[in-house]
Amino acid sequence: MKMKKNVLAVCVMLLAVNAVAAEKTAEQLVAGKKQADITYRQLMEIMGTASAMINEGLVRENPQMVRDGVDLVINHPAPNHKPWLIVAPKDQEEFKKTLVAYDPILDSQAEQIAVTAEKRDWNAANSAASTLMGTCIACHAGWKDKTTDIRKLR
Ligand code: HEC
Repeated sequence: MKMKKNVLAVCVMLLAVNAVAAEKTAEQLVAGKKQADITYRQLMEIMGTASAMINEGLVRENPQMVRDGVDLVINHPAPNHKPWLIVAPKDQEEFKKTLVAYDPILDSQAEQIAVTAEKRDWNAANSAASTLMGTCIACHAGWKDKTTDIRKLR
């Protein structure tokens, strides 16, 4: 019985450590970005503009236009509020982990588009853009319906 209690205590501790670690990492992610006076939603509108620029650069066969769109994705600012406030408190830990997991994936996938566009390998650049879009869509599928109006939270 005592043994079981100990195991349980360790599990609870690990969960707590995990939660703290996730928070710290999401905090660090946000702290590492330049803050802009925009909401998370407005930041996403910028992502939409970025993907439009990337696509336009691909059809025009213009590596610079692709690069500019890619840089918008990679160097996007942090919003003027903690990003996880857009979801209900019960979902915030999970959303923090999602942010931390997705950020580097978006960056490397976006970079791949610019690199292939620079080589004028438009088919490869197009597949890379499609991969990036798949990542955007994956996050939207999981989260877009779980958002709360940020204005009500401030
Ligand atoms: C970490 C998860 C996540 C990732 C990754 C992500 N988004 Fe979003 N996106 C969201 C959420 C959540 C919303 C809804 C925000 C709101 O309504 O407050 C959203 C909303 C949007 C909107 C506004 C949609 C609408 O309903 O009008 C656009 C445009 C958008 N995202 C583009 C993108 C693009 C392009 C990418 C990839 C380059 C991307 N997003 C990657 C989570 C994500």
